[in-house]
Amino acid sequence: MKVLVVGTGGRDHSIAWKFARSPRVKTVYVAHGNAGIAETATCVNLRTIEEMAAFAEREKIDLTFVGPEKPLSAGIVDLFESRGLSIIGPSLKASRLESSKCDAKVIMRDLGIPVPEFENFSDPDKARDYVRGVGYPVVVKADGLAAGKGALVCESVQDAEDAIRTIMEDRAFGDAGERVDIERRLYGRELSFFCFTDGYTVVPMVAAQDYKRARENDEGKNTGGMGSYSPHPWLNDSLVGTIMNRVAEPLIAGVREKHGILYRGILYLGLMLVEEGDGVTPYVLEINIRLGDPEAQVILPRLRTDLVDVSEAILQGTLARLQPEWDPRYRLCLIATSGRTKGKKGWFKGYPERYKIGLPIEGVDDIDKDCLVFHSGTERDGSGRLLTTGGRVLCVVSSGDTLAEARQTALLEMEKIHFEGLYYRKDIGLA
Ligand code: GLY
Repeated sequence: MKVLVVGTGGRDHSIAWKFARSPRVKTVYVAHGNAGIAETATCVNLRTIEEMAAFAEREKIDLTFVGPEKPLSAGIVDLFESRGLSIIGPSLKASRLESSKCDAKVIMRDLGIPVPEFENFSDPDKARDYVRGVGYPVVVKADGLAAGKGALVCESVQDAEDAIRTIMEDRAFGDAGERVDIERRLYGRELSFFCFTDGYTVVPMVAAQDYKRARENDEGKNTGGMGSYSPHPWLNDSLVGTIMNRVAEPLIAGVREKHGILYRGILYLGLMLVEEGDGVTPYVLEINIRLGDPEAQVILPRLRTDLVDVSEAILQGTLARLQPEWDPRYRLCLIATSGRTKGKKGWFKGYPERYKIGLPIEGVDDIDKDCLVFHSGTERDGSGRLLTTGGRVLCVVSSGDTLAEARQTALLEMEKIHFEGLYYRKDIGLA
């Protein structure tokens, strides 16, 4: 069978790697990939969803799997399905659950799913009046897609006013800032929770811990993710039951019955677990319509079931008959980012702020064969040298019987990688 994976990052590398291990898959194509993905799959330089659909028709691709949110929010699933092509991912209508934080919150509140108190605004003056009077700390979120950086956590009213200006007036995230979702800041434990769904049956995956802040001890700016691990120490059967009963199942049934959305593919819930009364309430901070990056890099290596079998069950509506199997061992991912470097006119602060690209990377071939290396921002020059092309460059994924063992292995292996300004968080897996 021929599979096309859409995406260029570390998550997408791990999806391509997983399909490449399937005995049912002959060729994995990736649109458009990077230097690391090119070692696992055939990279094809397709930039638009129309080019991808034409390629899938021409090459008779049996299955397409979409990694990132942008092509999903551009309607790739509707386009492929209109041409009779098999594709995994939620439809354009379903993608609004990620591409509009404001609409998603209203839908969830109406379905009785736990969400923090919130208000949505398209007028910055009204948003400012609201944060001056609301009386509790807030998080200000750009409505649209902002590469994981559009949620600004505020300590004070002044912070909230600054966030409104940054998002709505300075347009730091472009058109994503036309509206804002302002929600009560909750204090609890954050958890990334993933499910497969065929629109009727929802099957929980294993959970992962993501680290969003750039610096150790959860300081610094928000990033797309600096590391992850799985399994998650807090997630027991009782908590999985609570999340499924209170969030995942009512959401998938509710959007189908009340909004006419058959949600098929991956459901990724960004949750805040808050101790209330005798139990835990799983508040939904955000819905994503895809696998997380870097959560996929620790979840997919634990999936023992063939991803083709899972994909077929999603497409055929037979997930109820499939029980995915998981490796109980730990996986831990450290992301190597483009850090602080000196430029001609001063310093580059490093990801997620400005960083240099085109820097030679050494040491990838020395990584222990029991570890995995997934690339995010790399390319090869004319002479085959590996170079950086992005803020998140690559990751090392280790395994271990304990979290501490996986962490120690990843740290030792990461020391073998070198490029100018390389920065990674050393506290991944500590807390
Ligand atoms: N790890 C966060 C995300 O993928 O959005």
